[in-house]
Amino acid sequence: MQDFRTVAVAAAQQAGKTIADACGATYRVDYKQGAITNMVTDVDRRAEQAIVDILTAAFPDHRILAEEGGRGHGEDSPYRWIVDPLDGTTNFTHGFPAFCVSIGLEVEGRIVLGVVYDPLRRELFEAEAGKGACLNGQRIHVSSVPTLNKALLVTGFAYDRKNRQRNLEHFERFVLASQGLRRTGSAALDLCYVAAGRADGFWELKLAPWDVAAGSVIVSEAGGRITDFAGKPFKGDGAETLATNGLIHAEMIEVLAGR
Ligand code: IPD
Ligand code: CA
Ligand code: CA
Repeated sequence: MQDFRTVAVAAAQQAGKTIADACGATYRVDYKQGAITNMVTDVDRRAEQAIVDILTAAFPDHRILAEEGGRGHGEDSPYRWIVDPLDGTTNFTHGFPAFCVSIGLEVEGRIVLGVVYDPLRRELFEAEAGKGACLNGQRIHVSSVPTLNKALLVTGFAYDRKNRQRNLEHFERFVLASQGLRRTGSAALDLCYVAAGRADGFWELKLAPWDVAAGSVIVSEAGGRITDFAGKPFKGDGAETLATNGLIHAEMIEVLAGR
């Protein structure tokens, strides 16, 4: 059987090429559930097809959960690939250079492998459980920023109005409590940036499994901490995601709780 990592990297790079080649070209745009904020393009679908083709050729009996509906042939396999073919679609459609491909592998409910590829910067973030995290083959580690008032944070806003409104309250509090706050538009990159020490903390409400699967193992393997907003074990559904360098985790939990 082929090595999981090699296949995941090949799939992420092939999808990345599809995305990079489409930058500046024309493609079809549709709106999910009629919401103007929630777009899907032909490029998302083509990138996903490239990933599904590569994964199913290598592992025909594995299951696949992919954002745009791509599926594998497997039904009872303990292996499930969790795929976001293009994380940051809004950025992509505007030519704002922050988007990536995200591929995670779950085995019996635990994410054991994550690959995130930024095709414009050619940055490949990856981690295998127990083996550390790397960026383009070099070990990465979370930052050593000790306190929230010295921290650079990242966040994102869900597509639905209620959770956007809730996050605005968090946003306001963190603007006042941190050194700086950025909104990149790609949750998978946000998690990798915490892993690489480019940001010190990330929180977001109502993400999907494909937004967080790969990034969650990358941030953990880089020495970071990932939980829900109360500090309880992270659930892969992404309902609440709090990922930090570990040092500012408790402070962020307090701010999220409004204390
Ligand atoms: C979105 C991005 C964004 C986050 C949204 C996600 P998509 O993914 O990760 O940063 O704020 O919640 O849905 O739709 O571009 O794949
Ligand atoms: Ca996404
Ligand atoms: Ca997507």
